Amino acid sequence: MKALVTGGAGFIGSHLAERLVELGHRVTVLDNLSQGNKLTQATLERVELVVGDVRDQETVERCASGCDVIFHLAALLGVDLVADNPVETMETEVLGMRHVCRAAIEGGARVVYASTSGVYGKMAVSEAVSEDVHVSPRSSYSIAKRFNEMYLAAQHQEKGLESASLRYFNAYGPRQDSRMVTPRFFAQALAGQPLTVYGSGGQTRDFTYIDDIVKATVLAAEKVRGCRVFNVSNSREYSIKELAEKIAALTGSASPVALVEAPPERYDFEVERRFGCSDKLREAVGFAPDTSLDEGLARIYRGLLAGKDGGER
Ligand SMILES: NC(=O)c1ccc[n+]([C@@H]2O[C@H](COP(=O)([O-])OP(=O)(O)OC[C@H]3O[C@@H](n4cnc5c(N)ncnc54)[C@H](O)[C@@H]3O)[C@@H](O)[C@H]2O)c1
Repeated sequence: MKALVTGGAGFIGSHLAERLVELGHRVTVLDNLSQGNKLTQATLERVELVVGDVRDQETVERCASGCDVIFHLAALLGVDLVADNPVETMETEVLGMRHVCRAAIEGGARVVYASTSGVYGKMAVSEAVSEDVHVSPRSSYSIAKRFNEMYLAAQHQEKGLESASLRYFNAYGPRQDSRMVTPRFFAQALAGQPLTVYGSGGQTRDFTYIDDIVKATVLAAEKVRGCRVFNVSNSREYSIKELAEKIAALTGSASPVALVEAPPERYDFEVERRFGCSDKLREAVGFAPDTSLDEGLARIYRGLLAGKDGGER
């Protein structure tokens, strides 16, 4: 298989590219490196890295030429980055998807798209959320993600484009950007600083280990046909306070967990509960997550102790 991974120098994209070359596939990575380059040296030596922008149609078409699958991950994300750059966030999503679809249709490729559990918005849930519920995205980021899911459906109807949109639930693992909650708690614990939790800390999330995210993404590329939308989740709910406590205990840190006032409205801490049901993906491709939160955190910690941010696989 020949694959293009947009955003392939990022956290998820770099792990995905690594896995694809391990599987013997030929991989081109297209990334503007705006968030740095998380590809390991070993992977860099086995992929073609094109430094360029998904908002540029000619670049996307050149990179996608001859590809069987386009994994479309390039995006701006993170609460602050999105709030500070709403237009670039939307442009990257919407123009990037337009160019990816065009290239895929011309070249006969399938698309696997990195969507988000953020499309469920502030929905009150009492059980793991399934894909069938009515979504209500709120930020420019998640609105654009939902727009792209719908655009892919339209391109399927009009042009026969095949795609899988994957709603990732809180990916975590080695090499994740330090702005995100799990690496931030590790850094605070190891520096002996308080682990700062916003609000009550009772808000829950569904932490999905990077290897499970990558496994689901590869399975979707291999097995999904037509035009489908799937949750990718660990299907377990943990509060942010529990996550902080687990990391403090794991690292043997004396740092306290400190509850601090939630910052202004731009933050999504008011989403009280979010966890996903990935039964639909299990039925379609046989996906089941392998890595519990405790095991995933332990792997990150062993990687940090060994001095390799790459952690263990
Ligand atoms: N990490 C998560 O928990 C999570 C959850 C849901 C969805 N997602 C989605 O998964 C994908 C990957 O996320 P990630 O966590 O690896 O983020 P990341 O920021 O590490 O990776 C995104 C990559 O896209 C690149 N990029 C940004 N704008 C670009 C542009 N205009 N042209 C080319 N490259 C560009 C960045 O340089 C970066 O390397 C994103 O689409 C994200 O929305 C992630």
